[in-house]
Amino acid sequence: MTAPDVEATPSPLVDVDQERHARFRASFEAVTDFGRRLLAARLAAAGVLPAAGTTAGRDEILARLAVASGYQRLGDALLDLLERADLLRRRDDRLAVTERAAEAAGLASDDVVDATATALRREHPEAAGYVPLLVACQTQLVEVVRGDRPANEVLFPGGSADMVAAIYRDNVQLDFYNRLCAARVQQHVRQFLRRYPRSFAQVMEVGAGTGGTTGPVLDALADRAERLRYFYTDVGPAFLRLGRQRFGVTRPHVDFARYNVEGAPEDQGFEPGSMEVVLASNVLHATLRISAALRHCHALLKPGGILVVNEMTSRLDYNTLTFGLAEGWWRHADDEPRLAASPLLDVAGWRAALGRAGFVDVQAHAVPGLDASEQVQTMFVATAAGPGGSSR
Ligand SMILES: C[S@@+](CC[C@H](N)C(=O)[O-])C[C@H]1O[C@@H](n2cnc3c(N)ncnc32)[C@H](O)[C@@H]1O
Repeated sequence: MTAPDVEATPSPLVDVDQERHARFRASFEAVTDFGRRLLAARLAAAGVLPAAGTTAGRDEILARLAVASGYQRLGDALLDLLERADLLRRRDDRLAVTERAAEAAGLASDDVVDATATALRREHPEAAGYVPLLVACQTQLVEVVRGDRPANEVLFPGGSADMVAAIYRDNVQLDFYNRLCAARVQQHVRQFLRRYPRSFAQVMEVGAGTGGTTGPVLDALADRAERLRYFYTDVGPAFLRLGRQRFGVTRPHVDFARYNVEGAPEDQGFEPGSMEVVLASNVLHATLRISAALRHCHALLKPGGILVVNEMTSRLDYNTLTFGLAEGWWRHADDEPRLAASPLLDVAGWRAALGRAGFVDVQAHAVPGLDASEQVQTMFVATAAGPGGSSR
């Protein structure tokens, strides 16, 4: 029998409240569908979609949307999304708006959007944190894709990360994956320190961002702090300042340093083969070439060390409607294998990419109790092969 693509997480490692997670999934879908209808209403109001009773060719619609360079992939993805959501329908080779799109037309008004968003947050507290970002992105989408407003002004208004951070707060799904990462890093560090009690374990986190995963990981490692060196790294200096404020004051074993995973460690002051664990949570999809990023992670690790990758492994319309506004979401190289209309890889894609980068014993963990087709996120643990291709 071949190994399944995603194994249910062994429950002693990390558990999830199944009922709460089911509520979250239903709520997340309700929020996403609001976003799809909002997109249709705003594009119709901007004269981008064909008027009721008429049709338009795909290229014609894209020309009316007038996307700036850097947003072609988003333009295509939005039309695909509207078709899949039955807001646009094919008639011969052309597209027409549907009844469902006509029903959503009221969402062209900001007052209707505010009232609908308030009701949605009340009815779906499990996914309420996703609503403000979606509203901000969809009500300003046309300006952003035309290059009239920088995406960062929409995603991070006034330079604040609060709207994005609201998604991460008390989120049953993201919490589960963060705890899973923490449990796996903890397990590996403990094993290493049991074997070499006089040594130091070095752990490097790439793309640590605002530290959403770092917090649970550092907590899980707190009782080994005196034998630990933890590198909190990111390509963005602003994140290092945030990290230092949040984690630096009380934790002398944490170092903050700039590291771009698209470049080799030795060119950025990091010794190859020096880490027991490299952790990359929701970052590697953002790179130009995942293959190169994985090679650099491999180069950082000692033979037998592990790479922990936490990634979305399924395209979600919510992400297209929000993070899709960031040009960086679409910046991957043309010849990179990614899931259609997204920068992501699926589980098989990650397994293949990890194997090509020299990793062995790749394990994939996801939420227990769900079918593989229902999983949207996966945590991979992959071992850096030694010189002879073996793990420790
Ligand atoms: C979606 S955030 C994830 C943050 C955090 N790891 C988490 O899961 O909460 C992605 C982070 O990756 C960083 N990033 C993007 N490209 C990178 C690169 N080439 N090298 C290192 N970090 C990168 C961004 O600056 C950002 O902080």
